[in-house]
Amino acid sequence: MDGYHFAPTHNTFVGYLRETGFQVNDDDQYAYTLDNGHALAVLTGHNGRIGMIWEPRFGEEEKTRTEAKRVEMAERLGQERADEVADASRILFVYPNLLLFDLEALTIRQIEPVAPGQTDVRAWQLVETGEPANVRELRLRTMASFVGPGGLATPDDIEAYEAVQRGIEATAGFTDSLDDWSDMSRGMANEVAGRKGRSIDEGAMRGFWRYWADSLDGQTEIAQAKKEGAYRGCWIVTRSEVEDFMYRDAQLLDEWKLDDWLATFQEGAKFEVPTTDWQGWDTGSAGYFVADDWDLIKARVQRLKSRKAHAENPHSRTNRVVANVQVFDREDGTLQVKANFHISRYRDGGSFTYVGRYDHVIAIENGEMKFQLRRSILTNESMPAGARLQLHPVVADDQAHGPVRLQRRR
Ligand SMILES: [Fe+2]
Repeated sequence: MDGYHFAPTHNTFVGYLRETGFQVNDDDQYAYTLDNGHALAVLTGHNGRIGMIWEPRFGEEEKTRTEAKRVEMAERLGQERADEVADASRILFVYPNLLLFDLEALTIRQIEPVAPGQTDVRAWQLVETGEPANVRELRLRTMASFVGPGGLATPDDIEAYEAVQRGIEATAGFTDSLDDWSDMSRGMANEVAGRKGRSIDEGAMRGFWRYWADSLDGQTEIAQAKKEGAYRGCWIVTRSEVEDFMYRDAQLLDEWKLDDWLATFQEGAKFEVPTTDWQGWDTGSAGYFVADDWDLIKARVQRLKSRKAHAENPHSRTNRVVANVQVFDREDGTLQVKANFHISRYRDGGSFTYVGRYDHVIAIENGEMKFQLRRSILTNESMPAGARLQLHPVVADDQAHGPVRLQRRR
């Protein structure tokens, strides 16, 4: 279901048509991804059509017959409908293995993969009842000029299929499965923008493979790979998915859903808030406001859920804004995620704004993102005197114990 191979792969056939007086034109050709893996290509200017679009190679007798046929069709169907039927060639793919080729003539093709590296294709032609013998002869000759082992085009298709097969087999045993990816991103920008796909795009092929992967109910290698996060670089984890993860992190904390929040961490994760003079040193070299290992993270959550965490009982009200999210690949298959945060916190008549940036490491576990390292780096120059910074700025500790509150109490 790709239109873009036609001109380059069948260059000699297109040249033959041109020499016989028919100029192939692919300006007005579209492909539609239908639901459930089906697809439709609508091609005008692609080729002559027996009884509908005359080509010089069909001969003068067929020209006269075609003109009469078009008049008859217009009377029977109305001009607009007759033109719609006759002027465009269509290729309808019915998932999973049936093709209706309404090109030179209406052909049905059944595709049957029988073994790795071998696919059988059977084809039949639908012919109108009472078709004159000379038209049938023309039809068969026209078809044979393109398809089959003696055609001017099909052997080049077969060569391409076999070259792809050889390319796939060449990487057998390679450990990096990315070697076996076949890029089908052509026209993706149009698809994302909701624009009509061109026949030279690969939208119809993507539709097939997406539906196929879904049909296998997550058992495919792609679905497995997504779970393992092996193919993140290939559009599987998008920035918007990472943003959703970051927004959820902010929401869970603002709503004090700490158990749910803890579940966004990988077991063994770390949580760090360096001091405001941080120069990139590690937690063993200099002071950190927070340098939690997994046990401490769990202990903090436990503490904050307790009524006896006096500094957060009652809870402070917080409002987190996350922005400027950037996602980078790390060599070990995890993601580095950078973002800016702005946290407003209100409690006990006091307020404070925490500003800074996140520099997280996020791993993919069973298709889900999890914090491996959650690091918040403050932009604030300092904390007010008396600030107790236990879980900041994840959940702000009782900041208002500083001078502001003491002043108010005098
Ligand atoms: Fe082809």
